[in-house]
Amino acid sequence: MWISNKGKVAVVTGAGSGIGRAIAVRLARDDAAIAVWDINAEGAAETARMITDAGGKAIAIGVDCSDKAAITAAAQRTRAELGSITILVNNAGIAPFTPFMDIGEELFDKVIRINLKGPFLVIREIMPDMVAAKWGRIINITSSSTQSGSVGQTHYVSSKGGLLGMTKALALEYAPTGITVNMVPPGFIDTPMLRASPVDVDAYAASMPMKRVGKPEDIAAACAFLASEEAGYITGQTISTNGGRYMGSA
Ligand SMILES: NC(=O)c1ccc[n+]([C@@H]2O[C@H](COP(=O)([O-])OP(=O)(O)OC[C@H]3O[C@@H](n4cnc5c(N)ncnc54)[C@H](O)[C@@H]3O)[C@@H](O)[C@H]2O)c1
Repeated sequence: MWISNKGKVAVVTGAGSGIGRAIAVRLARDDAAIAVWDINAEGAAETARMITDAGGKAIAIGVDCSDKAAITAAAQRTRAELGSITILVNNAGIAPFTPFMDIGEELFDKVIRINLKGPFLVIREIMPDMVAAKWGRIINITSSSTQSGSVGQTHYVSSKGGLLGMTKALALEYAPTGITVNMVPPGFIDTPMLRASPVDVDAYAASMPMKRVGKPEDIAAACAFLASEEAGYITGQTISTNGGRYMGSA
């Protein structure tokens, strides 16, 4: 599919690694200028370098996407260097595995702060740009675990389930404005996060309908479509990108 986002500015959070990096590279290939946001400044710089080496436009910003002041500073720098932001992919996240009784309040709060409150803060910062442009694309990276559950991830699945709810509520509220809000729940994508989990990736791959785990580029392709002009009549929806593993509703 040929997509042109020429003249558009996209923020991709957590784009210093894995899925976020692939999304940033893909949106850049579709001609958007990319602000690569990640708490890991080195990873962000590497992604931006990959984009500019390929002839695209990108800047890297080290930012904790759960810190309101840092988010505001990152958005101001993005606007100053690239322009007003009308595409946002909320991808930054953490995914610990912890037995339920070991979770504790502090860890629960941390997961909710990064995976749920973070997107809330980033959206609030960037929404005025989209409202002024009467055009916007917000894509939230949720998780197939909201469809299936996941042992040892009550905190994580709660955070992603909250993001699912946020996506639908926001999609309705902003439907008249030219701004769409959708979600992509990845299922078993080969990234540093998956490799760090207790999952035996190769054994799991063999149990998948497609006999493989996903690639970060599989998620990027779904995001590229949702970010495009042609996806303008799609809002509050889910593109389940999981190799056929889960076929239920969002
Ligand atoms: N890999 C999978 O199979 C899978 C499945 C379901 C959902 N997801 C979701 O996809 C997203 C990307 O995951 P991934 O597999 O690429 O993981 P990853 O660990 O490779 O990448 C996550 C990135 O987010 C960044 N990050 C973490 N906390 C941050 C913060 N506070 N501020 C800014 N950046 C921060 C990290 O530095 C890292 O670069 C996550 O939201 C994850 O929950 C992944």
